[in-house]
Amino acid sequence: RSLHSAVSRRSSHLARRGYSSESTPERKVVVLGAAGGIGQPLSLLMKLNPLVTSLSLYDIAGTPGVAADVSHVNTRSEVAGYQGEGELGKALEGADVVIIPAGVPRKPGMTRDDLFNINAGIVKSLCTAISKYCPTALVNMISNPVNSTVPIAAEVFKKAGTYDEKRLFGVTTLDVVRAKTFYAGKANVPVAGVNVPVIGGHAGITILPLFSQATPKANLDHDVIVALTKRTQDGGTEVVEAKAGKGSATLSMAYAGALFADACLKGLNGVPDVVECSFVQSNVTELPFFASKVRLGKNGVEEVLGLGALSDYEKQGLENLKPELLASIEKGIKFANQ
Ligand code: NAD
Ligand code: LMR
Repeated sequence: RSLHSAVSRRSSHLARRGYSSESTPERKVVVLGAAGGIGQPLSLLMKLNPLVTSLSLYDIAGTPGVAADVSHVNTRSEVAGYQGEGELGKALEGADVVIIPAGVPRKPGMTRDDLFNINAGIVKSLCTAISKYCPTALVNMISNPVNSTVPIAAEVFKKAGTYDEKRLFGVTTLDVVRAKTFYAGKANVPVAGVNVPVIGGHAGITILPLFSQATPKANLDHDVIVALTKRTQDGGTEVVEAKAGKGSATLSMAYAGALFADACLKGLNGVPDVVECSFVQSNVTELPFFASKVRLGKNGVEEVLGLGALSDYEKQGLENLKPELLASIEKGIKFANQ
């Protein structure tokens, strides 16, 4: 008893000093594509996350170097690097969260759908391995086109008999990050306090920011809302063009991916009221997958939240995006079942 109270005294002392995270559960996070433009900074950001105890970095090449480098950072998690398909199983075993930024990025003039031919196959094979080695992990899909790669993952898991719709997420956090940044600039409010839901999917007009629900409220003119909406929808292209052939968003995506993975870990750990937008299996519209606010919990998706009240402009945007989003979803499903 006295030992017990000494231990709890010690842990509350540690908690006061900011070490409380050491008492959170063991959590293994895997990054597939860890040596890439997103993978490297994302691996670093996950190394900084005190909720992670084991960080597993996998790629077809280059991961020993990335893992050695990141492992020297003096934070809680143990880091291991895995290279090549032969090591994929070991990389995945015991995973709580698998983040997938594997695959080719866009060059100027390309749409995300132009990446389908290469990335669909990559995602299919990685998800086959997930269903074998860590079937209960939460999967955070970053690889584009997200509107198709998430349905591909779902079909692969269904075939393997491991599909749980609560555990599969298309990462649309970068759209939210952009919408917040752009809104804060126009509304002239501190960005740290801004919230903007983004619904739909993750490509062009399928990205639908709901500035009518943005907080703090600002009375922006309609033409400003239209410009903000378009900038959010074209945010990826803005970066692709600025990088002029050297790829797409990597640093802001790593930040967004780390935010979303952190939310998943908090949910798993039982933190209440963790809500993020994500592209998930959904019945908030007639489409089988849709991005909206999602409450995260101990099993992944705890609740897919509704869209809330939309302005007439947003209602029109919602109707306009449905055919393209449905076609991308169906393309993914068809590919996975070939
Ligand atoms: P990148 O080319 O810099 O890195 C991709 C990495 O994936 C490379 O290291 C490559 O070796 C690896 N890879 C390829 N095949 C693999 C396989 N079978 N298994 C494991 N790893 C494999 O590209 P990037 O800039 O990091 O972008 C990666 C993907 O993320 C692209 O598809 C891009 O379009 C997408 N992306 C999505 C979002 C989003 O918001 N969801 C944002 C930015 C980029
Ligand atoms: C993004 O939104 O930045 C990504 O989807 C990458 C891209 O191709 O635009």
